[in-house]
Amino acid sequence: MSDEQPGKRTGVCTALHALGHEYDHYDPQFALDPHADYAALRTTCPVARTENYGGFYVMTKFDDIAAVLHNAQTFSSWPADTPPTPGHTRALIPLEVDAPEHRRYRTIVDPLFRPKAIEHIAESVREYAIQLVDTMLDKREFDFMAEFAQPFPSAVFLRLVGLDFSVQQRDQLCSWASTILHTTTTGASHGDVEAQTAARLGAGKALNDFLRALLDERLKNPGDDIISYLTTAEMPGQRKLDYREILNFAYVLVLAGLDTVTTAIGFSFLHLARRPDLQDRLAANPALIPAAVEELLRYEPIVHASRTVTEPAVINGVQLQPGDRVVVPLASAHRDEDAYPQADQILLDRPAKQSMVFGAGSHRCLGSHLARLELTIAFEEILRRIPRFSLPENARLAAYGGQTRSLAVLPFRTWRD
Ligand code: HEM
Repeated sequence: MSDEQPGKRTGVCTALHALGHEYDHYDPQFALDPHADYAALRTTCPVARTENYGGFYVMTKFDDIAAVLHNAQTFSSWPADTPPTPGHTRALIPLEVDAPEHRRYRTIVDPLFRPKAIEHIAESVREYAIQLVDTMLDKREFDFMAEFAQPFPSAVFLRLVGLDFSVQQRDQLCSWASTILHTTTTGASHGDVEAQTAARLGAGKALNDFLRALLDERLKNPGDDIISYLTTAEMPGQRKLDYREILNFAYVLVLAGLDTVTTAIGFSFLHLARRPDLQDRLAANPALIPAAVEELLRYEPIVHASRTVTEPAVINGVQLQPGDRVVVPLASAHRDEDAYPQADQILLDRPAKQSMVFGAGSHRCLGSHLARLELTIAFEEILRRIPRFSLPENARLAAYGGQTRSLAVLPFRTWRD
């Protein structure tokens, strides 16, 4: 299928033609359940052109997305968002940095997030999960996102940067991260780009000020935490990180580490709430939890990664030119039947396969072990104390779109009829 319209790329199929409407990863309705649209694109227009947000290509097949993510030379990570945020000029470390600098940064931070390096926080993560489950049991019917999925990862972040936990700081962090990533939380409605940009910039500045105060404190009184480590760490054979780089990295940790885990927990419990049989299996046999965590991550990936083409390239027969923007939705890759037979089913005994839910290639997620630790503890503590749960009748769900999509609300009950 190809659209030949004046001023548009010729010989290329378009999302508009294939779907009957534009592809818009910022649309909250689409974010809630994008799978029918992705299935249609995979079948009829696997590399689709859209003129939305300045124009870009969206790729929907697993192998095409893998080819993009594994080729960092042809597909630059700068800037990470489509459309790029106006006024955003400094690359986020390491997310938007290309080789060779990218590798130098990763060499410094990778050791901080290896399984051995994070195991010491497991106990406090579990304690915090238990506290949140206590509250859920008291309330019985509530918004799961507000009571568990949002507060849980921000407490983990506070622990990593060596701050004593306070509910106020936790809520403040959630609010900044959410406004930066999902500007619709602040009253700026979908499509109101000016209000969204203003909200995003305001929250970005507030978060930066908070992290700056934290860094100044750590420079005076170093502790046993990530920020203190970064103030002394050296790039291989090179130099120490400067003040702005440390600040930048801490900012990325908040953005990359909070909302992703929030959303993964939220979607996982949405799908589990709809499947009493899976609840019963997991509650009876907690040894299945790691497999369930993996399968639910595969079933509902949340990141729309973006790249900029640096040199002529061909993906699935489509010619790309330098400067072209490309969006690779991991939600589509992991529902591709050519990669995962019965992709629309949740199968706990699915044969192991290297997934890309944490990305692939050089920018593969720094925090995947931490995310898995958080998810596993959340599953264990919730299923241990709340083995049977459900969605209220007529539960109204809502989501945010964007670079990472998220569940905004998940009405939840700690029992099942
Ligand atoms: C379930 C939770 C998570 C998911 C699904 C997820 C997913 C991803 C994906 C897909 C990427 C690659 C983006 C790209 O290639 O453009 C990525 C990168 C990244 N993630 Fe995660 N992530 C999660 C949790 C975390 C956590 C807890 C942290 C905190 C340390 C974190 C930190 C990062 C960083 C720093 C990067 C950039 C890596 C680089 O560019 O070298 N993520 N994540």
